[in-house]
Amino acid sequence: MSKNILITGGAGFIGCHVVQLFVNKYPDYNIVNLDALTYAGNLENLRSIENAPNYEFVKGDITNGDFVQELFSKYQFEGVLHLAAESHVDRSIANPMEFIMTNIVGTVNLLNAARHTWGDNLKGKRFYHISTDEVYGSLGETGFFTEETAYDPRSPYSASKASSDHLVRAYWHTYKLPVVLSNCSNNYGPNQFPEKLIPLAINNIENNRPIPIYGKGENIRDWLFVIDHARAIDTVFHDGKLGETYNIGGNNEWTNIDLIHVLCDVMDKKLNREEGTSIKLITFVKDRAGHDMRYAIDATKIKNELNWEPSLQFPEGIEKTVDWYLNNKQWMENITSGSYQDYYQKQYDER
Ligand code: NAD
Ligand code: DAU
Repeated sequence: MSKNILITGGAGFIGCHVVQLFVNKYPDYNIVNLDALTYAGNLENLRSIENAPNYEFVKGDITNGDFVQELFSKYQFEGVLHLAAESHVDRSIANPMEFIMTNIVGTVNLLNAARHTWGDNLKGKRFYHISTDEVYGSLGETGFFTEETAYDPRSPYSASKASSDHLVRAYWHTYKLPVVLSNCSNNYGPNQFPEKLIPLAINNIENNRPIPIYGKGENIRDWLFVIDHARAIDTVFHDGKLGETYNIGGNNEWTNIDLIHVLCDVMDKKLNREEGTSIKLITFVKDRAGHDMRYAIDATKIKNELNWEPSLQFPEGIEKTVDWYLNNKQWMENITSGSYQDYYQKQYDER
């Protein structure tokens, strides 16, 4: 008999790769994708599986507790993969309340619905909360985030995700709700909304527009190809130990400026431009408020205990990413018309 599995945020960047992987790999799961289709949610991301017999899309908002409970009562989910979130740091600085509502209240609504629906019948049930390395704060030049690193979130986004992580663990300890968590580093790859550094830069380079680099471009991020993250999520969902947290990372640190240099070289080649053309578009702009200096994940636990590690090296990943955006220009055009222009103006014109 097929199991109903809920994936929240499945129309977003990471969610769409997780939904596609699960729909294709697990014909015995009926995948229900719950997504509010905010600016970041896009059903075009799911065209390849939208007619699959084991897939259903439900449009709905996780901040509505009654609605979430009705959905659980209807489908009696066996498992939940919770990815829905407000995910962009800059938007959280401009407007924190949406982050509090979706990331904290929305998560508690899902936890409550799981708890009330499952009651004492917990065999085979699993609530998987997908989170970020930003909850650990900012590193100096050395060291890595491990699962034991104390939380020190520093933006409204990371504080809201940290809060949701604490609540998920509180439901494990207090109510014995069967939970598992993971905290991942920066993802890149196809289908990422062009408010985030890499797709924003690809789009601007293609259109000969300035590439805005915050501060001096010295901040460091640890980049992981999104399909490797989806594979890790599959592994943690099926094999992760209940109550545990797994850090997921790319072991792939770059300063923003070095990363943009690599991207410019790849773009010049793909667009048949003279070497050095795109680098001229780099423009240093006012820094992000409270900009975390460095993130770097120690992913030893998931490697040793669950046998997961990244499959793709960065040069291959970045080429695949650029190819995808250049082959999907209509996708980019559709989402950058309309409200994206207002966002871009507010975010960058005054920098
Ligand atoms: P995204 O912004 O691309 O997608 C978020 C999705 O959630 C969208 O489809 C949106 O419509 C949906 N959503 C937002 N508010 C909702 C609500 N109230 N009700 C229902 N749906 C709602 O985000 P992403 O980059 O795919 O991130 C997914 C998850 O992974 C998030 O929880 C994020 O914190 C986490 N994460 C992201 C990264 C990264 O680099 N992108 C890294 C680590 C962890
Ligand atoms: O670490 C995981 C996190 O990675 C996720 O939890 C977040 O959801 C995701 O958005 C991402 O957060 P970052 O803030 O690191 O990603 P972003 O792409 O916004 O920025 C990457 C770096 O590039 C960061 O140091 C800020 C810088 N930047 C970003 C933008 C949008 C620029 O220099 N210029 C820009 O225009």
